[in-house]
This record gives sequence, structure tokens and C-alpha cells, in this order.
Amino acid sequence: MDPKRFALRTYGCQMNVHDSEKVATLLEDSGLAAADGESDADVLVINTCSIRDKAEHQLYSDLGKLRAWKAEKPGRIVGVGGCVAQQVGDRLLGRFDHLDFVFGTHNLRKVPAMLDQAEDGQRVAWVDEEKSQARFDLPMRRPDAPAGRRHKAFVTVMEGCDMFCSFCIVPSTRGREISRVAREIEAEVAALAEQGIREVTLLGQTVNAYGRHDVRRGKAAAVGTMPFAELLARLDAIPGIERLRYTSPHPLFYDDALIRAHGELRHLCPHVHLPVQSGSNTILEAMRRRYTRERYFEIVDALRAARPDIAITSDLIVGFPGETEADFEDTLGLVERAGLVDSFSFKYSPRPGTTAADLSGEVPPEVAQDRLERLQTQQKAQTLAYHQTRVGQETLVFVDGESRRGQGQISGRDPQHRVVNVDLRPGAALAAGDTLAVELVEATPHSLLGRPLDPALRP
Ligand code: 5AD
Ligand code: SF4
Repeated sequence: MDPKRFALRTYGCQMNVHDSEKVATLLEDSGLAAADGESDADVLVINTCSIRDKAEHQLYSDLGKLRAWKAEKPGRIVGVGGCVAQQVGDRLLGRFDHLDFVFGTHNLRKVPAMLDQAEDGQRVAWVDEEKSQARFDLPMRRPDAPAGRRHKAFVTVMEGCDMFCSFCIVPSTRGREISRVAREIEAEVAALAEQGIREVTLLGQTVNAYGRHDVRRGKAAAVGTMPFAELLARLDAIPGIERLRYTSPHPLFYDDALIRAHGELRHLCPHVHLPVQSGSNTILEAMRRRYTRERYFEIVDALRAARPDIAITSDLIVGFPGETEADFEDTLGLVERAGLVDSFSFKYSPRPGTTAADLSGEVPPEVAQDRLERLQTQQKAQTLAYHQTRVGQETLVFVDGESRRGQGQISGRDPQHRVVNVDLRPGAALAAGDTLAVELVEATPHSLLGRPLDPALRP
């Protein structure tokens, strides 16, 4: 009999993308095969996000439509995981009678067993918090992973968040902070390097808080963790790893050692995505971010002093309760003063159970929308200006695949994590994972255009 086929639909952050990779491996290990698409699948797993209300509504709309998908072929199974699953739990089963199983953010390992139960007609939800290192005990990426990702991989170093920013749902969907034992991380990175992975992105909700609780309690050696900068140094030394990145850090956990690491470690990339959220000290305090704009500038300046070619990107929220026009202008000012190369910006979205959800001073939606547009206009101009400073420089591109335009144009990333597109001579066989030396010749707000240094590759 042909194996059952599965498909995954993933929303949200890189942690979710990585969790979906792990679920895929678990399903393959239990005898299923990846489907070509959802129409060809027997099992569909949705990995959900609840960071903003839009993301959450997406699930309800998806589930509504999946009634028809399920009816098309008998025996089809639908499972839901991720942050909405963690929060809503078995009430999801009550609300959608065609949903078969629900698994929380700590329960990926339960998916094959839940699938078996679903095949027996049982409907189960599993959303317990797993507080031990066992939660990191998941199968590694396989050497035959999809071609687009053959040269780069995510590696989880810590999970959960103890920061409780007043707007954020993550502490309640991802649970308490826990850091993974360093030797396990090193072993995973070394094994990935042996499979040909050359770029590793370390993942954690507050990734540079790695080890902090153990270090503070004097238990790091006993537990097997260490300060984040030390972990970076160890991973930087693993043969075969050419690019090391981490996401997302919190400004509170930049110490001298981490700043120095950016100047010293050969493979640590000149890019940091450093969420700031707001440029107003009043709003930062109301958000419980625990730093000021001045401290943010200090970190950015120190990173630039250590690594002059570093690109800093960020996340920003507009329309937080009580945000005045002056507060918002402080955000615009910060974007400029910090020289943000790019940013993701969002309208504040109240999340149930967070302390900000109870704050008064709601910003009218049209004001929030206007601020978002002004912020994005400024950022776009700044991104373009940054890209223009890069024109004339040489850089190395790790090829991800064909560009959106197609027609022999490939797309990849430079060390600063900027998208670089390159036109190639027809027949120049470059594949995902190849490295291409280019000169940057043109800038747009979204990407750079590179010209191969090797004349034989040029159109
Ligand atoms: N409303 C709007 N944006 C939010 N983010 C997190 N919570 C909210 C919220 N309630 C944004 C932050 C964070 C990014 C992942 O999502 O900017 O850094
Ligand atoms: Fe959310 Fe703040 Fe934790 Fe980031 S640090 S995940 S914004 S609570």
C-alpha cells in the first residue's frame, strides 16, 4: 500500500518554520511521505501563529474551508499545532467537529501518536508544558531535505520567554525560558556541517538570553549551558560553518562579550535583527521593554564600532495604547538615528490575557494606520539609501534558488542578509547552496542587483 501523504501549512515566525520541519521529519520517520501539495495529501497539519489577531483569524478561516477538503476524500485528517493550539487547546475540537487533533508548542513529539489515534477515530488535544530538556529531543533535519534549504539550517538554542512585554502573547504560548545543553547544540551543528550545511541560524524567543538563568544561579557548568557569547565562539569554530546568525535577540541581553564577539568571530554575520518596538521612552516603559532609546543607541553604536559593516534591522509597533504623535515621532527619529537598514512594522493588536490589553488610551485605527504608512515610507527610503551605499562593493551571495522574476535570474543572500538577485548566462548551472562572488551594481528598496565577478557567468 502506498504510504499516506502529509502536507504542512505554516504561519508565523522562524520558530514555527523550524517546528514544521521537525513535524515533517517525525511524520516521515513514522512511515508517511511528503505530499506534492495539499490536494494530494491525506493528512494536513496547520502550524498556527497568535502574535496578532489577524494571524489568529487566519486559522478560523482556514479551518472553515477545510471542511470541504476533508469531504473530498474519505479518511483525510486535519491537525492543528502552534501558538493558537497552545492557547485554545481542546476548545478547538469543540468548535470544529472536522478537526482531528490539536498539539501544543511543546508536544511535537506526540504528533505521530496523535495521528494513530485520529486514524482510530479518536479526537485528542495535547498541550502540556514540557519543562525538561526532553523537549529539545527531536529528530534532526535530514540530508535529503528540500533543495532550497540544503545549505542552511535553523538550530534551536533556547525556547520560551520570561520577559512578559506587556503587549506580547508569546510567554503564554511558548512557556518559560529554557536553554538547551551546549554540547547538544554543538553536536547538532557539527552533524549539520557534515551534511554540507554552511549557514546556521540559532533560534530562540530571546536568543541572547541563552544560559542566563543558569549563569545567574551559578549552575551553568552543572546544567551544561554558558553565556551566549561563549556558545557563539564554540559554534564559530566548527569546521564547515561559514555563516553563523542568531534571531531574535533582546536589547537587555547585550553585554561586552557579545558585542566583542561581533568583532572577533570570523563566521558571525554582519547582521543583527534587534527588535526595538518603539522609540519613545514612555512607550518602552509601558511596553515593559526594560531599556531606553539611549541604551538602544549605545548597543547599535557599539555593534558598529566592533563591526563597521554590520546591518541592523528591527521590529516596530505603532499605535500602542497611549502613543501620542510625539511618541510616534520619537520612533521615526529612532529609525533614522539607529540607521535601521530594514524593519518589520505592525499596528498594535491587543492580545487576550496580556497586561496591555487592559490599558486605556486606545489609538484610533485610522491614526494607527496613518502612522504605519508614514513609518513604512521612511523605512523604504532608508533601505534604498542603504542599498545605494552598497553599490560598487563586492560581496558573496549564498544562492537560494531562482529569483521571483525567473528567466535565469537567481536570488540569494549576502552576509548582511540582504536579498541579492543576479542575472546569469543561459546554461550557467548554479543551484541552491552555491556561493557566488558578485559586484553590487544596482539598488532598489527591496533588493540589490549583483554582477558575477567571473565573466564566464555573466549574460
Ligand atoms: N501587536 C502588534 N505587534 C506585535 N508583536 C508582538 N506582539 C504584538 C502585538 N500584540 C510584534 C513585535 C515582535 C514581532 C514578532 O511581532 O514587534 O517583535
Ligand atoms: Fe514577546 Fe517580549 Fe518575549 Fe519578545 S521578549 S517574545 S516581545 S514577551
